[in-house]
Amino acid sequence: MRYIVIKCGGSVLDELTSSFFTSLSELEKRGFKLVFVHGGGPDINEMLELFQVTPQFVNGLRKTDEQTLKIAEMILAGQTNRKLVSLLQQHHFPAVGISGSDGCCLQAEYLNREKLGFVGKISEVHTKFLELVVNENYIPVITPIGITENGDKLNINADYVAAEVAKALNAEKCLFVTNVDGVFIEDSLAESLSHQEVNTYIAKGEISGGMIPKVRSALTAVEKGVESVMIVSGKKTFFENDHWHGTRFYQKETIKH
Ligand SMILES: Nc1ncnc2c1ncn2[C@@H]1O[C@H](COP(=O)(O)OP(=O)(O)OP(=O)(O)O)[C@@H](O)[C@H]1O
Ligand SMILES: [Mg+2]
Repeated sequence: MRYIVIKCGGSVLDELTSSFFTSLSELEKRGFKLVFVHGGGPDINEMLELFQVTPQFVNGLRKTDEQTLKIAEMILAGQTNRKLVSLLQQHHFPAVGISGSDGCCLQAEYLNREKLGFVGKISEVHTKFLELVVNENYIPVITPIGITENGDKLNINADYVAAEVAKALNAEKCLFVTNVDGVFIEDSLAESLSHQEVNTYIAKGEISGGMIPKVRSALTAVEKGVESVMIVSGKKTFFENDHWHGTRFYQKETIKH
């Protein structure tokens, strides 16, 4: 099975254009099976504001106390997932929403309970249910909530989830769809970035905020054997006539074209 895992940023969900869906159709025509993971930063922040909770971030990761976790799960699974599933269905993609804790799909552990609270890292992705859904020609849309062996729910950065799902499915490609064209370095779009370049630009502060977990996850996906990993915009055509628009990631300094 030729899988492509597509992480769709909460940042761009309300701004996805018809060109984005055309690019998805192009990928399907080339035989790719689509699997989505979604984020939901803006939706969660909006609801936290209503509850008068101030969002807190550490290196782009959301610090999650008990109340934030409850709100994050409610919003991600109940609102953001529904939004992406509906959008895909409107464009004739048969999407099915799955919360990451369903069927223990995203088995997780605490990342750093003291520093980050209820934030998880993936210990295992159970792919059986995902494969079942794909085999029946439906498109899974995964909410980034994991579950520990004790049954605790954890909030996991959706970029990390996408990289781990891509690895577990032996995906050929992993895409991070966001609200910018890719990674900008000194005001111009980087066509490709290596591991070393990413570390340098994070240290220099050229890559910051939510872009940090995204580039780190992109590199994780490359290191775990995903052939093609890119950050692309959801506002534009990202794939056309076998040509990609965005920032591509490589492990080594050697750049493939
Ligand atoms: N060097 C950079 N190039 C491009 N964007 C950058 C860079 N450094 C930081 N950013 C920021 O990263 C943001 C994208 O990450 P962000 O986490 O906000 O979105 P997302 O991951 O698509 O959405 P969500 O977190 O809701 O899933 C950009 O909108 C931009 O503000
Ligand atoms: Mg993000």
